[in-house]
Amino acid sequence: MSGVVVAVSLLGCGGSELERAEVDATGRMDQAIVGGNEARPGSHPWIISLQQYGSHFCGGSLIRVGNRAESDIVLTAAHCIYDGTSRLTAVAGAHDLASPSSTQQVVSATKTVYHPAYNPDTTVNDIAVVVLAKPIKFSATVQPVCLPWDTVSAGSPSCGQSSSMRPTLVSQPSLAEPPRNPVGLVPGEASVPAENTMMIAAGWGLTSEGGAAYSNVLLQVGVPIVGSAALARQYSSQGITIFPEAMLGAGYAQGGKDSCQGDSGGPLVAKALPGYTLYGITSFGIGCARAGSPGVYTRVSNYRSWINAQIANNSRVQ
Ligand code: ARG
Repeated sequence: MSGVVVAVSLLGCGGSELERAEVDATGRMDQAIVGGNEARPGSHPWIISLQQYGSHFCGGSLIRVGNRAESDIVLTAAHCIYDGTSRLTAVAGAHDLASPSSTQQVVSATKTVYHPAYNPDTTVNDIAVVVLAKPIKFSATVQPVCLPWDTVSAGSPSCGQSSSMRPTLVSQPSLAEPPRNPVGLVPGEASVPAENTMMIAAGWGLTSEGGAAYSNVLLQVGVPIVGSAALARQYSSQGITIFPEAMLGAGYAQGGKDSCQGDSGGPLVAKALPGYTLYGITSFGIGCARAGSPGVYTRVSNYRSWINAQIANNSRVQ
């Protein structure tokens, strides 16, 4: 079935013309992920560009693996690495892929592990780790993201610290104000973001459905969480099954703002305690930014034990 999803995603050109008229706080014309804006350099210090033969193909997120200020584990989507990973490298600390910064770090991958229950037909369990040949060192522009179960604890190294994330993304006057930080959480389920909680997706992917080229500069877009029932309803009408415990939807009913091809594997974060937290991994959609087809993200909180087992089995940072 995700044969359908992927085919639609990859070939779904010629969709609606996207509104690109908004101007962000700095006066720059809106450019996208789709409908987003350029991230301030260094404001998503956990984001990784996964590259093959020097070309970006997917995003990823650097996570904490121990008490040292470095990490050799990147989280991404299973569909990014499922078909092979020769000459895979991870680039950290990047902003403009066309003019590499002096502080960026490029490390090759030694191994990739996708979730054993990943199903390419349904895209369920779309999560994988990339194990790096050597650790990436944390710096002003390279930091790990927090995971949904991380708590504030004295003495442990920090996560999710963005020195300069632009505070907000273009607001949507037609919608109620999103909850203030820290992120709105479902009562009793500390790591599950509630409907309408504002999330930020980021990546170097296409800036319009069917677009011709990836973005050189890192783009970001704010998208609210869509409730699981609504998400399942919207996708079932298109013949696609949503697994609510494993998937998270985010986007506007009217479309216009979304992640897109090339953003896959990258982060969906929200500001929380102890820092920006990875709630989702960009997974799939029908086209990009279409009304009624929110982006679908892997629900990271569902994979705590699997992620911890991958760190224990594969990380050489202790
Ligand atoms: N599957 C796409 C990729 O490989 C990401 C799709 C996200 N699509 C969306 N409409 N949010 O890059």
